[in-house]
Amino acid sequence: MCSLKLLHTDEGMLSFKSVSHYYGLHTPLEAAALVGVDFELPRDSVLLVSGHVGSGKTTLALLAGKLLKPTMGEVRISDHMRPAVVFQVPEQQFFCETVTDEVLYGPRNFGIPDPEKAYDQAMKSVGLSPQVFADRSPFKLSGGEKRRIALACSLALSPDILILDEPETSLDDFGLYLLRILLEDLKGGMSLVLATHWPEFYLDFATHLLLLNEGKQAFFGTLEELLRGDHESIYNVLPKSKIMESAKRLFLSRGRLPRKIEELIVDEESDIKC
Ligand SMILES: Nc1ncnc2c1ncn2[C@@H]1O[C@H](COP(=O)(O)OP(=O)(O)OP(=O)(O)O)[C@@H](O)[C@H]1O
Ligand SMILES: [Mg+2]
Repeated sequence: MCSLKLLHTDEGMLSFKSVSHYYGLHTPLEAAALVGVDFELPRDSVLLVSGHVGSGKTTLALLAGKLLKPTMGEVRISDHMRPAVVFQVPEQQFFCETVTDEVLYGPRNFGIPDPEKAYDQAMKSVGLSPQVFADRSPFKLSGGEKRRIALACSLALSPDILILDEPETSLDDFGLYLLRILLEDLKGGMSLVLATHWPEFYLDFATHLLLLNEGKQAFFGTLEELLRGDHESIYNVLPKSKIMESAKRLFLSRGRLPRKIEELIVDEESDIKC
């Protein structure tokens, strides 16, 4: 049986203490999704969580957002810090008939002052008109619009930790551009946890990386530690390791992380030409 082990702490803003999570525990379908994950994330961090399909990214996101209880270990969040999770599949978090009700559900139920203002701001932040979308069904939007509404639902809660599960999926170039601008804007005011198959998209503004390999923690540390250190085996676990290797070379030659994704791509291309 799962035991609730969510404690509050002032150590790190978010910490996992020997956390394991099993689905279908003690049934024939038992699956170990996370095993012995242990890290401490300081305040105002941007954590990338990466690893191959089925490595446990979504499970970790749900645990960090208090939406799942760990089977073993403890997930701790600093006092008064509010997490919010943007799901990998937006439909899984929708349950209201209109966009307004969906986005306002959190603010109305968590005592956010002036929910209507929170709705307006959240919709504008994700580049959607608060009026045009107000009475539409969240289930009948395009894939990209659904993702943006899902993000608006979380933003309307004014979270301290925003956890996004593969937010770049199904976005067109404009959507990706908006996402980047928005995340860079949010970065100063809250911590971000980004589960992703595309870590290099966020590399230039992330602070920490957690790599998962079949549910186990293959690496946790700052990007500097990853790029400066001797962690060659880790690149086998990274979904797009070639670009991460390119980031490492760029970092070692210039002594800084790439500031724009274009720098990585240029470096990658020049490496290929050599
Ligand atoms: N609801 C569930 N019931 C049973 N097993 C599950 C459930 N959700 C996930 N799993 C299993 O737990 C493991 C981790 O799944 P999880 O969804 O966390 O991985 P992921 O890294 O997010 O994968 P993806 O890259 O496909 O999103 C997988 O082996 C998966 O099959
Ligand atoms: Mg997932």
